[in-house]
Amino acid sequence: MSNLPQFLILQIGDIHFPQMSSKLEADIKDLRFPSGTLNNTVPNPFLSAIRKIQEICDQKPDAIIFCGDLTTGGNLPRHNLEGYKECVNYLCKALKFGPGGKWSKDQVQVVPANHDVVREFCHTDGNNWQEKFAPLVQAWTAVGFPVLSAEAIRKVQLSANGLSLQFYAANSCVGCGVTREYFAPQIRDELENIIKKKKEEHSDDVSVIVNEVLDTPAFDSNAIEIMADEIKSLKADILPVVVAHHNLLPQATVRVALYTELLNAGHVRTHLTNCERLVLYCHGHIHDNPIEIIQNVEDKLGRILCISAPCIIEGFNTIRIESSLANAPLGCVITCYVKTRACDFQPKACRLIRIHTKEWRSHCDPKTHQLINILNPKRIEAENFACLVKRAFKDLQMDAVNVRLRLLEAEWLGAVELSNHRDLQTGEALEDFNRCYIRRI
Ligand SMILES: [Fe+2]
Repeated sequence: MSNLPQFLILQIGDIHFPQMSSKLEADIKDLRFPSGTLNNTVPNPFLSAIRKIQEICDQKPDAIIFCGDLTTGGNLPRHNLEGYKECVNYLCKALKFGPGGKWSKDQVQVVPANHDVVREFCHTDGNNWQEKFAPLVQAWTAVGFPVLSAEAIRKVQLSANGLSLQFYAANSCVGCGVTREYFAPQIRDELENIIKKKKEEHSDDVSVIVNEVLDTPAFDSNAIEIMADEIKSLKADILPVVVAHHNLLPQATVRVALYTELLNAGHVRTHLTNCERLVLYCHGHIHDNPIEIIQNVEDKLGRILCISAPCIIEGFNTIRIESSLANAPLGCVITCYVKTRACDFQPKACRLIRIHTKEWRSHCDPKTHQLINILNPKRIEAENFACLVKRAFKDLQMDAVNVRLRLLEAEWLGAVELSNHRDLQTGEALEDFNRCYIRRI
């Protein structure tokens, strides 16, 4: 083993099937140009993204998460579930989900989103909110791969290479599709009839005068409280990962609309930053890929690492969790794959986020401590350091691989600085460790 134990997550944002699947990378001025010829001659970013995702799937990630908006049609008038079902079928085929496929149900996380919710199943007053998600659940059950839950939160624990993650696929669409009535039912119906009569020939939809359909994202607050309590009591070596559609912080692009931000985002933030540990919060919805950390200064250990995936035709993320030799999660390497000018998808930049604060150094393995102690703040080449280690650890059988792994561990703990040892785009540790410089910090 030349790298620390790892857990790899593939994070996919909004898919908006089938619209995104037919968007071509071209400046189309001639709208009557034969579509068959267009499809054969113009790059299609959706297909290109799927090809890259398939390539990454061949490396067998440990989990794949879909952050919602599989379709667009759910919230349109005279909508149906066809787009959602088509997307489920497409994904099953392209990524080998379902019975006899390459993935177990636990490895795949899917959450509902505002565009997925079929409006005709929404109750006016928002009660029985689970019912509107039943058709989405049914779409996955129909393909023999029930990975979506109508409940507030689907919980799954997954382990790979000795490293354990607790996933919470959370439904942030409790308020989506609910109708807000302006008048009491009796007045409303009467008013509607009067307006209908008056505007028979001019108005397509008089109902907009007496009510409006809301698109208010919200979590079930009770479920969030229960989840936070559970996260608090998780063993220290299990990393909690929340998957949801909506963003906790307002998006960077100014959004001018009513009720578009998560109604109870503050409640969620308060509970998650209170968990005395790092919580990963993976989401989509904003068609952008910021990585943001939310921290309450009163609780230094409690942080939320928000990782957003863009819409699929712009890119997707991989999140690699690296652990200590004793299988405690140490850090996340987030790699954003983005569309290039050639319309293929390449890793653009990676971000390294520590899971523990510096105080955690005291938990580190005694042998790693010994290594750190023979370093000084001056930079030293790995090759020279190897000689130092040989002299200092004559009896401890610390071979080159072991030294390298312990230095990687010490780097995540904020005890040493290593330069030149990772690929700047993918964040993978490079094999040629001799090229790196080491410094105690
Ligand atoms: Fe959305």
